[in-house]
Amino acid sequence: MFNKRVKVKDVLTSNETGREVTVMGWVRTFRNNQFIALNDGSTNNNLQVVVELGLLDDTTLKRITTGASLKVTGQVVASLGKGQKVEVKASALEILGDSDPEKFPLQPKKHSLEFLREIAHLRFRTNTFGSVFRIRHSLAFAIHKFFNDKGFVYLHTPIITSSDAEGAGEMFRVTTLPFDAPPKNEDGSINFKEDFFGKSTNLTVSGQLEGELGAMAFSEIYTFGPTFRAENSNTTRHLAEFWMVEPEMAFCDIEDNMNLAEEFINYLIQYVVDNNRDDIEFLDQRLAEEEKQKPQTERSELGLLEKLNFVLKNNFERITYTEAINILLDSPAYKKNKFKFDVKWGIDLQSEHERYLVEKHFKKPVIVTGYPKDIKSFYMRLNEDGKTVAAMDILAPGIGEIVGGSQREERLENLEQRMQEMQIPIEEMSYYLDTRRYGTVPHAGFGLGFERMVQFVTGMTNIRDVIPFARTPKNCEF
Ligand code: 4AD
Ligand code: MG
Repeated sequence: MFNKRVKVKDVLTSNETGREVTVMGWVRTFRNNQFIALNDGSTNNNLQVVVELGLLDDTTLKRITTGASLKVTGQVVASLGKGQKVEVKASALEILGDSDPEKFPLQPKKHSLEFLREIAHLRFRTNTFGSVFRIRHSLAFAIHKFFNDKGFVYLHTPIITSSDAEGAGEMFRVTTLPFDAPPKNEDGSINFKEDFFGKSTNLTVSGQLEGELGAMAFSEIYTFGPTFRAENSNTTRHLAEFWMVEPEMAFCDIEDNMNLAEEFINYLIQYVVDNNRDDIEFLDQRLAEEEKQKPQTERSELGLLEKLNFVLKNNFERITYTEAINILLDSPAYKKNKFKFDVKWGIDLQSEHERYLVEKHFKKPVIVTGYPKDIKSFYMRLNEDGKTVAAMDILAPGIGEIVGGSQREERLENLEQRMQEMQIPIEEMSYYLDTRRYGTVPHAGFGLGFERMVQFVTGMTNIRDVIPFARTPKNCEF
C-alpha cells in the first residue's frame, strides 16, 4: 500500500511533531551511518531521517547509498540539528531500489549544466532542475488559470498541418512515403497524392491560423501546445520543438493586444513569486554564485528576484520600430562600430540590437510595434502609412524576443493583396479567408515562447535547461 505516503514537503511545512508518517523518496546523502537526507521531488528541502543505532543490520545500512529509493516509517520529532525544524525518527526502513554508488552518475557535489544535459533522465534529481521543472509546471498551470478566469476557450489546434502560411521557417515534413522509392509525378516531382493525407504535410510551426478560426466564433481562445521549427539555429534561445501559448481575440486591436500581453506576463511572474518562493530563492542564490564567477563588467545589475520584482513594479516600455532604429543609430555601440549587423530602417532587428535596447538602453521589457511590412507575415494588419504593419514584439532582458504578435488584417481585399505579393496560395487558404468573408471583425493575438518565459523566470541561460528533453539540431536523445 503506497497511498498512505506523506510528501516530504508536507512533513516539513506542517511542522507537526508526534505523528507517525510513512515517507518515500531517494537518498541524497547518508552521513555517519545515521542521517539520511531524503528527497521525493516535492521540494528541494530534504527530509532528515534518523536511523538510530541498532535499528538496521550492517547489510541494510550498506545499501543506503546516494540514489537508492526508500520507504521509511517513523515519528516526526523536533530536530536538534541545524537547517530543519523537524525530522523523522525511523522505526522501519525498507529499501525499494538499490543504487550502485560506484556507478550512479550523480554524486553529492556540483555538476556542470553541460554534464547534466547528457544525463537529462537523472538531472530532475538535482536541486537546480527540481526547482526549474516545478516552476515550469507552475507556469503552465498559471497560463490555464489566467485564460480560464478571463473566459477564454482552450482550443486544441492540430499538430499536423498542410500549410506553412506562417512562413516561420523550415518545417519538419510528415510522411509515410518510402524514402528509397517515393512515387513520382510525370515531371519527376514527388507525388504527394499517394502520401498518407493525400497531400504534403508537416508539423505545425504555430497554431495561430486555426486559432483565428476559433476566435471568429468564441471571441477569445488560446492554444498552448508544442510547435516545431527545423531552423538550423544552435543558440541558447532556440529549440526545434518548443511550446507556445497563443491567445487570439476578436474585437481587439493592437493596443488591447499589448495590454493583454503585459498583464499576462506580469501575472505569470507574480504567480511564481507567490507560489514557488523556495524554488525562486534557490535559483536566485544559484545565479548569484554564477555571477560571481564572471568579470565585473559582465555581471547583471539585478539578482533574479530583484529582476522579477522590478518587472512587476514597472510598466513595459512601448516604442515603434522607427524609434528603435533611431535609438540604435544614436547609440555609442553603433558609433563605435560594435554591432556585427548593420542598422538601417528596414532591417530585421538582430538579437544584438534587441539586447542593446532592452539591456543597455531601457533596462526593462520593451514592446516594439509598427515593423516594416516586408519583414513580417502576410496576415499582419497594414498601417495607414502603407509601409508598416500592426506587429508587436516583446523583448525581455537576457532573453530578447519573448512574444511575437499582431493585429490581424481583417479587410479581405488587403489580405488577398498581401497574399498575392507574398506568393501565398490563395485557393488553398480559402477556408482562412472565409473568416474575412463572413462577419469579419478586428482581431489580434500573440505567441509567447513558453521556454523563453521559463528561462526569464528561472534565470537559466540555456533553453536546453528549461525543457525536460531538448530537441536541437543533431540532438534527439531520450
Ligand atoms: O514570433 P513567432 O514566430 O510568432 C508566431 O509564431 C505567431 N504565429 C504568434 C501569434 O501571433 N500567435 O513566435 C512566437 C514566439 C517568439 O516570440 C519566441 O518567444 C518563441 O515563440 N519562439 C521560439 N522559442 C524557442 N525556440 C524557437 N525556435 C522559437 N521560435 C519562436
Ligand atoms: Mg517573431
